[in-house]
Amino acid sequence: MINLGVNIDHIATLRQARGTPYPDPVDAVAVCLAAGAGSITAHLREDRRHIQDRDIERLAAIPGLHLNMEMGANEEIVAICERLRPAACCLVPEKRQELTTEGGLDVVVHQARLADVVARLSAVGVRVSMFIDPVAAQIRACREIGAPVIELHTGHYANYQGEDQRKELTALRDGARLAREIGLMVHAGHGLTIENTSAICAITEIEELNIGHAIIADAVFKGLHQAVADFKAVMVR
Ligand code: PXP
Repeated sequence: MINLGVNIDHIATLRQARGTPYPDPVDAVAVCLAAGAGSITAHLREDRRHIQDRDIERLAAIPGLHLNMEMGANEEIVAICERLRPAACCLVPEKRQELTTEGGLDVVVHQARLADVVARLSAVGVRVSMFIDPVAAQIRACREIGAPVIELHTGHYANYQGEDQRKELTALRDGARLAREIGLMVHAGHGLTIENTSAICAITEIEELNIGHAIIADAVFKGLHQAVADFKAVMVR
């Protein structure tokens, strides 16, 4: 069964919009797990636009929670991850002006710096994943620097339509196969909705999806439990 990681960043977005103490993203954990999520993802951004330090500290302190800390590879955040030791982390590129993570990491270009971060976090027991586009050179570079997991960027697939979308789906399928062949675990995420998720789940090498924005958006109308349960239902292969 493919694992659903629910990204709870946008519960914090709603809170930060008014500077209120509510809604508390930590309160979402039990609801998501009860509705079928296997893990929780949260992105401590350098600009702290949604998840705050206190959120990630409280999430990391929940006994038995499989927390996936999404993060840029900058020194301040890497040091926090080393101290909190979540079960997993996903390294993403981060630019201050972007609305959300816009593309995959360039592991080929930043190989030396990323190898150092992977080594440091692996040394404290964090399972490190690299958020990349489905490009063979990037996948091989992840293997070379010793990352055990890749998360394939599905954002382009989600934004495209028609022939472009079919081509991107093929690239994701080929990328997932290559990654598995060279011994990497494969996750995927970004831009997934209740409509476009099942084609990604049909890629049998993919073991985990991380989904946030669409779940929190659906939750406005049907509640968080139902929104998570509905995604889980389309993820049954
Ligand atoms: N995976 C990664 C690496 C991401 O950066 C994000 C966005 O924070 C997601 C998954 C979830 O994307 P979305 O919010 O579009 O579902």
